[in-house]
Amino acid sequence: MRRLRRTPALRRLVAETRVSVDDLVAPLFVADGLDEPRPIPSLPGVFQHTLGSLRDEAARLAGLGVPGVLLFGLPRPEDKDATGSAGTDPQGIVPRAVAAVRDAAGDRLVVMTDCCLDEFTDHGHCGVLDATGADVDNDATLPLYAAAAVSHAAAGADIVAPSGMMDGQVAAIRSGLDGAGFATTAILAYAAKYASALYGPFRDAVDVTIAGGGDRCGYQQDPRNRREAAVEVALDVAEGADMVMVKPALSYLDVLADVRAAVEVSVAAYHVSGEYAMVKAAAERGWLDGTAVALEHVTAIKRAGADVVITYFAAELAELLS
Ligand code: PBG
Repeated sequence: MRRLRRTPALRRLVAETRVSVDDLVAPLFVADGLDEPRPIPSLPGVFQHTLGSLRDEAARLAGLGVPGVLLFGLPRPEDKDATGSAGTDPQGIVPRAVAAVRDAAGDRLVVMTDCCLDEFTDHGHCGVLDATGADVDNDATLPLYAAAAVSHAAAGADIVAPSGMMDGQVAAIRSGLDGAGFATTAILAYAAKYASALYGPFRDAVDVTIAGGGDRCGYQQDPRNRREAAVEVALDVAEGADMVMVKPALSYLDVLADVRAAVEVSVAAYHVSGEYAMVKAAAERGWLDGTAVALEHVTAIKRAGADVVITYFAAELAELLS
């Protein structure tokens, strides 16, 4: 075997997996009412953007050849309420952010939006609460996700991405979009999303704390379950998902490989905030070469079967790969 490993050109020729800038999507945060971009301490190099700095970042990413962004909006703290109404407002922060990115980058960027509500609810859960106040009311949440998706589509989003893990969310969003005249807006389903401790830095990024020390174990998948992901993915594809996602990515490569084998639609993987933060923290201490590890992580995620990798390393890797 070593004959084919002798030179860089030989290794390049026989490489089974190729990471390209075309595979990458950058998650971006934009906050309503912010005067200047605010660094997120647990995600070095990532910011809560103003609409102005979002525009600049979108132009920079497009210039680097990154094909897509995934937008997360933060309302003004005083606009959070029990139903997350700022998240379904057609004049809300996400629709305005979509318009800003489109203005800055035109069609050079695929604009994806998160249509979950946890950034907008005052209790931090991904939907409205039931009468007990302890659990999310699945069916009461569905029309709100559809309304959020329609508001993003109306602003020009190409793809809406529901990360809430409610049953039936893809069908509800598809019918909401079609009914509002947005039949061409695609859905990236967070099909296999696990209740992961690796989302810690993200919750700092979006200023979300779950009331009463709660968690999302009642709606997100149990990390101990592998086969269950196949069930979730099949349901989402049947409900009309155009693409499906596995999240987190690196700790769930087995799930990713299963999903790749099971479906023909595009498969995305979300290299999440904790996966990024661990590399950055170790690199800051000089314990490893952060960029090299980032490339190895994304290579592994592609090797396991992802077509699209959502990663906070998108810009850094785009620079490395160009
Ligand atoms: C929920 C959401 C989360 C992430 C994306 N969408 C957090 C959660 O489910 O608690 C995490 C992404 C990351 O860690 O990078 N709307």
